[in-house]
Amino acid sequence: MSTRKFDRRAFLELVAAAGLTATIPNGSGAGEDMIRRTIPKTGETVPAIGLGTWRAFDVGAPYDRHRACLDLLFEAGGGMIDASPMYGRAEGVVGGLLAEKEERDSTFIATKVWTEGRDQGIAQMEESLQRLQRGSIDLMQIHNLKDWRIHIETLRLWKAAGIFRYIGVTHYASGAIDQLVSVMEREEIDFVQMAYSIGERAVEDNLLPIAAERGIAVIVNRPFEGGGLFSSVEGEDLPTWAVGAGCNSWSQFFLKFVISHPAVTCAIPATSNPAHMADNLAAGQGVLPDARLRQRMVEFWEDV
Ligand SMILES: NC(=O)c1ccc[n+]([C@@H]2O[C@H](COP(=O)([O-])OP(=O)(O)OC[C@H]3O[C@@H](n4cnc5c(N)ncnc54)[C@H](OP(=O)(O)O)[C@@H]3O)[C@@H](O)[C@H]2O)c1
Repeated sequence: MSTRKFDRRAFLELVAAAGLTATIPNGSGAGEDMIRRTIPKTGETVPAIGLGTWRAFDVGAPYDRHRACLDLLFEAGGGMIDASPMYGRAEGVVGGLLAEKEERDSTFIATKVWTEGRDQGIAQMEESLQRLQRGSIDLMQIHNLKDWRIHIETLRLWKAAGIFRYIGVTHYASGAIDQLVSVMEREEIDFVQMAYSIGERAVEDNLLPIAAERGIAVIVNRPFEGGGLFSSVEGEDLPTWAVGAGCNSWSQFFLKFVISHPAVTCAIPATSNPAHMADNLAAGQGVLPDARLRQRMVEFWEDV
């Protein structure tokens, strides 16, 4: 896994090469290391900020913006990418771009199975291996718990065979939390992926505490509620106390809030905009809010 530091000049060159202009928010982490979190089951670490690919990476060639985002990810010491066969061409785009990179084999790749039936699941996972151009996948997740009782048997077998290093389940809807928790309590899984944001904190009640208790790593999806959080603060300035605490953009405010929960392993904001990518990566650098500041962020948010 790369541990290189964020290089502001390299970033600007990448953005220019992609034909884009960019404003890097202050405190974009130049020279700082990416925070890493431990996967409880093994002690391996992963970067606290990864990259989601839903919509953002479902594209045809050319991929200049996407290539620039991956370069930034690696420059910042990141390298955790989440995909799914549900995301159209995203797995193929990620696999194709990674094939060009020296970080190809060290990138932590998470993808999913999203179909019904054992044989269909096997066929889909074989296709994911091909699209990602990998002989093995770091994390295979059952997307939205679809046919999970069937797929979990295959996931266990393939993990034992070394094709997957970790297995897990995902969802995004608060109505599915009880079912996710039930799977976490009954099955031997390594990861759970679920939505968590400053505006959607239902997972704090039991999912996150149970994950911590059972040693299950947590990936946070939809940390910006699909971008909706930015609309809520359009035209609003960040509070000065948040800037003083190292949040130099709304993105950093939202991301630092979620990754500072002790049970959270990493967040996977989606973007194909290199300026947004740099902004998001900076949230994984510097200080994180402590419990008191987290409470202040919540109180502030409830008045937005
Ligand atoms: N059930 C599941 O397993 C499940 C469900 C949902 C999501 N996921 C995973 O989680 C990932 C993230 O969730 P998501 O894609 O739904 O939503 P999200 O990451 O909460 O929000 C993505 C949106 O935020 C915008 N954005 C990103 N960075 C920004 C920045 N710095 N400033 C302003 N806008 C910014 C993006 O626009 P730009 O492209 O313009 O930057 C995009 O519209 C997915 O891509 C997927 O990998 C999994």
